[in-house]
Amino acid sequence: MANVIVIGAQWGDEGKGKITDLLSASADVVVRYQGGVNAGHTIVVQNQTFKLHLIPSGILYPDTECIIGCGTVIDPQVLIGELDRLEQLNISTRNLLISENAHVTMPYHRLIDQASEERRGSYKIGTTKRGIGPTYADKSERTGIRVLDLMDSQGLRQQLQWTIAYKNVILEKLYNLPPLAPEQVIDQYLVYAERLRPHVVDTSLKIYDAIQKRRNILFEGAQGTLLDLDHGTYPYVTSSNPVAGGACVGAGVGPTMIDRVIGVAKAYTTRVGEGPFPTELDGELGEKLCDRGAEFGTTTGRQRRCGWFDAVIGRYAVRINGMDCLAITKLDVLDELAEINVCVAYEIDGLRCEDFPSNARRFARCRPIYKTLPGWQQSTVHCRSLEDLPQEALNYLKFLAELMKVPIAIVSLGASRDQTIIVEDPIHGPKRALLHANGKPASLEV
Ligand code: IMP
Repeated sequence: MANVIVIGAQWGDEGKGKITDLLSASADVVVRYQGGVNAGHTIVVQNQTFKLHLIPSGILYPDTECIIGCGTVIDPQVLIGELDRLEQLNISTRNLLISENAHVTMPYHRLIDQASEERRGSYKIGTTKRGIGPTYADKSERTGIRVLDLMDSQGLRQQLQWTIAYKNVILEKLYNLPPLAPEQVIDQYLVYAERLRPHVVDTSLKIYDAIQKRRNILFEGAQGTLLDLDHGTYPYVTSSNPVAGGACVGAGVGPTMIDRVIGVAKAYTTRVGEGPFPTELDGELGEKLCDRGAEFGTTTGRQRRCGWFDAVIGRYAVRINGMDCLAITKLDVLDELAEINVCVAYEIDGLRCEDFPSNARRFARCRPIYKTLPGWQQSTVHCRSLEDLPQEALNYLKFLAELMKVPIAIVSLGASRDQTIIVEDPIHGPKRALLHANGKPASLEV
């Protein structure tokens, strides 16, 4: 039995979908603990490609229970669309459970997200405009609508009459937008409520029961460490806590119940939206990585900004999340390059800095210090073991493991499940503390 958290070590889009899909094979329960329909992963079922934003990809395994925890925010329209699509494909959604305490994204959240981004002008965050920030803001302000509120039609009617009147002031007076018609919204959300009702439970209790029964639980983070509200590159962050600590809050489990933390990082770096990005590549090379890596957002279709691997943020992610091991994805995207840069440290105001600056203003002034490694200039997409990899690719991976002081347990070389090298069992292999007894990452020492 193991309870494992999988999290992104960069700015999201690290390829967590594929890694959680792989690990879901040995999970009994998969839990999504934060974020909303800003996240997304593409899955291929029966030769059909479609996108899931809220439902964990564990739903593809018929016996796996999938839980959307209280730390998430739920857009019922999108969630119901996902349920319908899965059912059309004869994929059972009976095992999907939704927390009563998760907050609900309402039409005014989406409108406010879009309008406030426009109002910010050059200060915009580059959000997905899915209403995520305003939904979490209402949660903190204690004006939010929770799933359990949806389940009480009389109470919801009263609550929404008041809330929509309040939000209409903001829409009309602050953003010059037409007001929402309360009855229309209420009627619509009551229909959503009936569709979701069979799935709504106390998910924290369900997870606790599963732990007592020694079932394997996978906690699936959305976004990534650098997008964390508290530990990311504020204000260019999302409004939740993707870091490993967020899993305990967002799922409702105690930290002593977590056995492992697995980080996922791309072999290079990408970022969507605004904000500093020290290793960003402008020009031809950035475009090349974008093309080869198909770096377009699942949710918004926006082109991702691409850059070299940044080991400073990697080390930071290892520390903040207490990672036991890493999965490195998309190594094959670097196959054609003659030389590959890795950011080993920053220069800030003329001084070398090895650690990620917690001060966002200092971070914006960071310049990367690179170490250049030779590329391998041959395809790795067919490699299935470390021995199959060209020596330069192996050296690259070893270098990353050394820089981040964490073993690499998985290497991914393409989208399909079999394009994967399992260096070491990430769930049942030895713990990081043991591996680091001599201060060195033990994995990848082939
Ligand atoms: P929001 O989460 O829509 O409020 O967007 C805030 C920031 O997080 C923006 O820079 C988004 O591009 C980024 N973001 C949100 N979700 C994702 C994701 O799943 N992958 C990558 N970036 C994301």
